[in-house]
Amino acid sequence: MSVATQVPTGAELRGEIDRLRKERNAVILAHYYQKPELQDLADFVGDSLELSRKAADTDADVIAFCGVKFMADTAKILSPEKIVVLPDMEAGCSLEDSCPPHKFRAFREAHPDHIALTYINCSTEVKALSDVIVTSSSAETIISQIPESQPIIFGPDRHLGGYLNRKFGRKMLLWPGVCIVHEAFSERELLKLKTQHPGAPVAAHPECPPHIIDLADHVGSTSSILQFAKTFPGDTLIVATEPHIIHQMEKALPEKTFIGAPGADGNCNCNICPYMALNTMEKLYTALRDLQPRIEIEESLRLAAKRSLDRMLEMASGTIGLGDLGPTGD
Ligand code: 13P
Ligand code: SF4
Repeated sequence: MSVATQVPTGAELRGEIDRLRKERNAVILAHYYQKPELQDLADFVGDSLELSRKAADTDADVIAFCGVKFMADTAKILSPEKIVVLPDMEAGCSLEDSCPPHKFRAFREAHPDHIALTYINCSTEVKALSDVIVTSSSAETIISQIPESQPIIFGPDRHLGGYLNRKFGRKMLLWPGVCIVHEAFSERELLKLKTQHPGAPVAAHPECPPHIIDLADHVGSTSSILQFAKTFPGDTLIVATEPHIIHQMEKALPEKTFIGAPGADGNCNCNICPYMALNTMEKLYTALRDLQPRIEIEESLRLAAKRSLDRMLEMASGTIGLGDLGPTGD
């Protein structure tokens, strides 16, 4: 093995990551679905909106993104002067995969009077074809600012879109994508679990299908589920989202019990996101050492995608209304 490919192990690995982060003036951002050891060494752990804000605001030279590719792409779109590395470039997302840009463009063109409100879990090309991006924590604030008379197409998550339609009485046209992780929760097994833990509330992510949402006491983004975990009055919570978030709950509330909602056979690992799981400490180390794999985005595409992301950041903080919308990316 050549020196360039040698990777330290154990405490030395953690020490080398710390050394490299200082040497590179790097910030390590991690999503709540990352392995506990990555969450624990990150400078900041958050949901998609919080991570986007951090990426836009940081004064680091390098962003090491422990998350999936659309998140690292977002960091690069918002902070083009930074080097953005993703430990494993194969860390994708089933929602992004469900929505090829040429098909999304055709969908838009078939509905010229509609605006495109698009979940951040999509490619840079799809962001460039969209009017406003939303995350699960900003979607409700943003949709409330769009006049009810305005027709909307929503992609790529049909469950989040369906949840928003039901909650806000909208009739958004939905792209048929799903998150394979949240799709795998079983209604039958969840009902069984609720019987075993009477009184335990269920907190669910809006990427869950409606039969799971209907059983939930709280529906919201990963950060909002974490907040609910910190404030609900009982001692046991059933968590219907990717189970690595339970790490933060157990750290903050060691006296409480957090149970991951089950998949179809009751105890499968099907709710662990296989894309998020690709990132490891070893790959983070080599990403910081080699500054690879690195996110690169062609400038005109980046600028087109930035328009819809900037609208999200502004509308999420309530600083503008819908403004002058028009299709982007042409
Ligand atoms: P949030 O962290 O924004 O709730 O989104 C979760 C997600 O889709 C990650 O895949
Ligand atoms: Fe995509 Fe679902 Fe994984 Fe999130 S949990 S990255 S939505 S596949």
